[in-house]
This record gives sequence, structure tokens and C-alpha cells, in this order.
Amino acid sequence: MRLSNEVVERIKQAADIVEVVGDFVSLKKRGANYTACCPFHNEKSPSFNVNPARQIYKCFGCGAAGDALKFVMDIEGIGYGEALRHLAQKYHIEIEEQEQTPEEMLRQNERESLYIVSNFAQKHYQSLLFDTEEGQSIGLSYFRNRGFNDLTIKSFGLGYSLNEWDGLLKEATKKGYSAEVLEKAGLLIRKEGENVRVYDRFRGRVIFPVHNVSGKVIAFGARILTSDKSQPKYINSPETDIYHKSKVLYGIFQAKNTIRQEDVCYLVEGYTDVISLHQAGIHNVVASSGTSLTEDQIRLIARFTTNVTILYDGDAAGIKAALRGLDMVLEEGLNVSLVTLPDGEDPDSYVYKVGAEGFKAHVKKATTDFITFKTDMLLREAGDNPFKRAEAVTEIVTSITKIPDPIKRQIFFKRTADVLKVDEQTLLSEGNKLLRKFQDQKQKEQDRDRDRAKPAPTPAPKPLEGLDIEGITFSDETDFFLNEETSITAPPTLPPPKQDAPLDLFKARLYAHERAFVRLLILYGRIELEANISVSHYLLHEVEDIKFENPLYSLVLDIFRQRFTFGEIPDTNYFLQHLDPDVQQLTIDFCSNKHHLSENWEKHEIKVPTDEEILHNTAFKAILHFKKAYSADKMKAIEADMKGLNSSSDDDFLALMELMKQHKFYKSINDFAAKELGIVVSGY
Ligand code: UTP
Ligand code: MN
Repeated sequence: MRLSNEVVERIKQAADIVEVVGDFVSLKKRGANYTACCPFHNEKSPSFNVNPARQIYKCFGCGAAGDALKFVMDIEGIGYGEALRHLAQKYHIEIEEQEQTPEEMLRQNERESLYIVSNFAQKHYQSLLFDTEEGQSIGLSYFRNRGFNDLTIKSFGLGYSLNEWDGLLKEATKKGYSAEVLEKAGLLIRKEGENVRVYDRFRGRVIFPVHNVSGKVIAFGARILTSDKSQPKYINSPETDIYHKSKVLYGIFQAKNTIRQEDVCYLVEGYTDVISLHQAGIHNVVASSGTSLTEDQIRLIARFTTNVTILYDGDAAGIKAALRGLDMVLEEGLNVSLVTLPDGEDPDSYVYKVGAEGFKAHVKKATTDFITFKTDMLLREAGDNPFKRAEAVTEIVTSITKIPDPIKRQIFFKRTADVLKVDEQTLLSEGNKLLRKFQDQKQKEQDRDRDRAKPAPTPAPKPLEGLDIEGITFSDETDFFLNEETSITAPPTLPPPKQDAPLDLFKARLYAHERAFVRLLILYGRIELEANISVSHYLLHEVEDIKFENPLYSLVLDIFRQRFTFGEIPDTNYFLQHLDPDVQQLTIDFCSNKHHLSENWEKHEIKVPTDEEILHNTAFKAILHFKKAYSADKMKAIEADMKGLNSSSDDDFLALMELMKQHKFYKSINDFAAKELGIVVSGY
């Protein structure tokens, strides 16, 4: 289901950055640009900028940047294709899907019709709740008794289903919806047998619609209102073409913006927990709806944050349930914390009891990272029993080895060794054994997959046409698989032993790439790569808030930036005549080596690339090389800072966590650049 290039172009042309962003945040005009508080991070004063002339946005606070398409992808947490469709809809651009077989088309229409009837049903149940006597006296009074106000009820689209066999079926048929589609949407039940019967699935219950991440109704949960023990407390929609329970998190649509802003997602068990917390002002909360977390659900959360805090009941069953599957969350690279609620309370009952402030205070006080939590619990259970203690150690080490980030692993090994009062080396070697085992397993799985391999699928269309090395979106894949650094040949102690690579080498490398960057600017800055995009536009945009380390190159960059604000692009002559002798000399050096650009180009290519193509490529590569060197330099510095900290001190631990976050950020840039350059990622 690919869109034709022509359509993609039309969509990109039509999409206006100000309009697109304006749908999500309120923009204030300031000069030629617009500003707002950044929707991607939490801030009080606006550092988010939209530049209509260049059709890009940029946040000077968190670094989020891109074009209209990137904005939609990130704000909605959706992929390239879906974002294009979203924009097409907004601008009424008809998309004739290419290469779609009739079956695919049919399927697409079928899914569409499921969305339509689900939406109809939600509206129907909602109006029954507010506009009928039965709905008001039974459903609405139930919700109000639980403390839900009307605003809350409406933002979650809650409803009521009459206590009749065919209330929905009748109403839907009257409106022209087919029973067949209603059934496919899971709204009806069919009883086969001598006389086939078709009737409403939800009857005499309050209704909780389930929305997907972009806000479409895809399923329902229906809670009983009587104390009839022969009936299940909740009846849920079955799996349908639009509802796959294991991929959905209840409340994600209402929560996603806050999750991103607060950079943490609270995970609870039930519908009512989500709603009560939301009403109390805690909006970054979703529910796994009674099942333990799946991998797809974790990936869904990971689109918006890497921090998950699980809120669970204080009883033992709650704890066990929370622990189950948690290793998997670690494996996905998420940071997991837990908050225990007082005995017998769930988030819903507890926030009702102590109010929003009390709840937040408790969360703040009781948040424990997962490993610490697990260690404490297992040790408490083990008591003085040496066997149990040994078992506990293995279990904890297992969890730690699931963490893909070697630095984070390192910190937890250190910490756990302290808490357990065992030798760190013992833990490490235990961990290495396990790592090796996991990798063997992984390898076997991969081999098996390869044996089953189908012919390679046609490569997906390249994501954004332009470059976006700043956004780390595209490095997600590299983040999530075991790369060399997870290898156990070298113990996971960090920084990796690189005696032959003293810090100075990193600087030298960085300078070399800064130089290459500046060289392109001075020699080719004015050349247009595409309409209105000059080489200098292109390059400078990529390093917008970066300062070069080398003073001379930094000076050239500043000159460019300064001239730029006057709408000028200084040319080679400008630099040849510059007052600073160093700048002059540099330019002379560059000029005398000008042919260098095409010389390096793959000589054996049959097709002779145009100058623009060469430049485009060279500029792209220069950016990548620079970013690779720049991030490597930063990572080195961070690692040096880490070494000076002591992980058993709480303050230092927090500092370490922060450094790790930064390290991860630079690593993703580094990985991305390396991947684009075709360099095998091994160290940096
Ligand atoms: P709970 O029993 O904790 O329900 O189940 P709850 O949401 O807190 O509801 P109240 O507060 O008692 O009204 C947690 C979740 O497990 C799923 C639902 O998603 C529920 O929200 N569940 C529970 C079912 O799907 N079916 C059931 O029969 C029970
Ligand atoms: Mn409850």
C-alpha cells in the first residue's frame, strides 16, 4: 500500500507548517516566525519556533526539529505512511493507493466500516447515558457516585447500554448500518443452532470505549452494575480487524501528549484507575486492562517516553503480577520504576481517598527503580537462607543482563553488589555467563528465522527526503537490537578499554570533521542544492545549536551565522579578503585543494554524477562525519564524568541516570551517523 511519489509530493507541497503545527499548539507570531511552548517537552516559556519561510520547526529547549511531516509523525506517534495519510486528509488530497490488489482495497474499506460503526456505537451509548431515563438513573448516577464529573465522562466518551437484547441492533439498522458489519466490529453476538440468534453484546452495562493512539474508537469494555456473581464484571470486545487487545493500551490517546511532556508513563491495571487519575490531573496514565504487558504495548509507550512507572496494588498478588514480564520491559531499553500503594488500595480508590496532591506526594516518595525493588523484595523473602539468597542473586543478575544499555547495566551491577554485599566481579562474571546464554538463544532464533526466510521484501521507501540526523526517531532500530557492545568478550565494564585511543584523538577527529564542514561552507556555501536550499542553509541548519570546538572553525561558523541573519551568504571572496589572517589562510588552503571534492568520488561509477549530486552527497557525508565525531567526543566526556561518581550515593545515582540519558542521546546520534555512513558500529 504505497503512495505514489507524485501524491507524496503533492501532500508535502500542500502541508503548511504553520497550519499543521497550529492544529496542536497555539502559535504566537513573532516577526517572521511563530513561537509557542514546546509540545514535546514541558516548559513554561516558549522556546518552540516555527519558520514559515523554511517550513520547519525547531525547539531550542529540547532540540526537536523537522518539517510538517516530521511534526505529525512525532506528535501523533505514528509512522511515515500514516502521517502522510493524516496530512492528505487534512488537505483533502485524494490518495489513490498504488499497487493495491482488489482484496486489499476491500479489506481497507472493511476496516474503514468497522471504524465507522464503532464510532456510531460510541455516540449511541453516550447519548443513552445522558438522554434516557434508564441511562441517567442507572449509568450516569453510577459514574457520579464514583466521583466522575461530566467533563471526565465526556473526555473518555463513557456511555450506557440499555438492558435490552437488541437496543443497538435496532437503532443501527434504522440508521442504515448493516448487522454484518456490527457483528464484525464485535458489537453483536451470533448464536448458531437451529434458530440463529443475533443480539447486542453489551446490555445493561456502563460502557468504556477503547480508543487507538489517534483517537478512533476501536473497542469497548462494559462494566456490570449489579452484584450478579454469575456474570463477568467486565465484558470486552473480542479481537476484530481493528482491535488487537495485545497492541492497545487503554487511555493512550488521552495520555500521549502528557506522557511526552512529563517524560514518564504511569501504568495501571484498570479502566477506572486511568479515569480517576486523569480527573485528578494526572494525565500521563494508561492501563494494560487486566493482562500483563505485551511487547507491542511497550513499544507503544516507547514512542512517547522511555520511562515507565508501574502503580500497583499493595497486595501480594499485585506485586507478583507487576513483576511478571518486567524483564521484557527492561529488554526494550525502558527505565522501569514501581510505586506500591497502601494495602488494599488501587490507584482509583487511593486517589479518591487522598486527593490529587496526596497521591502525587505518595508517588514521589514511594517510587523505586525496578532492580532495587526486586533486590529488596527477594532479599526479604530469602531471609538468612543461603540457598534462597543465591537464587535471588541469579534472578537479579538475570534482570540486569536484560538491560541493553551497557552503561546502565554497569551501574546496576555496582549498585546491586553494594546492596547484596557481594563482590562486583562475582556478579559480573555471573552476568557474563547469562549474557552469553541469551546471545546464543538469540542467534539460534535468528538462524531459525533465516532458514524460514522468504524472499527479501522490497525496501520500504526512504523516510524523510531531507535529512534529519538531529531527531533520533530513525535510530530506533539501532537502539533495540543487541549490538556489539552487548557482547561478552569484553566484560561490560565501561568505558571500553581503548588505551590506544587517548582523548586527544577524539578531539583531533572532531577538528578534522569540523574543518571539512567549514570547507564546504566557504567553497560551496552559495550553491543551491534544491530550490532555495543552499549548501549553507543545509549545513547550518544541521548544527543550529552546536558550537564548534576548534576556535578558528568556530569563528568561521559564527561569521556565517551572523551574515545569515542579514540574509546574506558570504562567498569565498569574502573570506579571502577577511581581516583575520587565520581565516584568510584557511580559505587559501581550501582554494588550493578545490579539486579534492570530485577526486574522492567513486571513480568507477559508470554514471557520472552531476555537481549537485556530488555536493549533496558530500554535504550529507560531512554532516554525518561531523555528527559522529561530535557525539563520540561528547560520549567520551560523559563517560569520564561517570567514572568520578559513586553509584551507591543517592545523589550521584541521580546524576548518573542523567548522564546515562545524555549518553544514550549522543549514542543514538552516533549510531545513526555510523549507520548512514555504512560504518559498522563497534565502539565509536
Ligand atoms: P479490576 O477488577 O481491578 O477492575 O480489573 P476496575 O477497572 O478497577 O473496576 P472497578 O474499580 O472495580 O469498577 C482491572 C481490569 O481488568 C479487566 C478490565 O480491563 C479492568 O479494568 N477486567 C477485569 C476484565 O477485562 N474483565 C473482568 O471481568 C475483570
Ligand atoms: Mn478498581
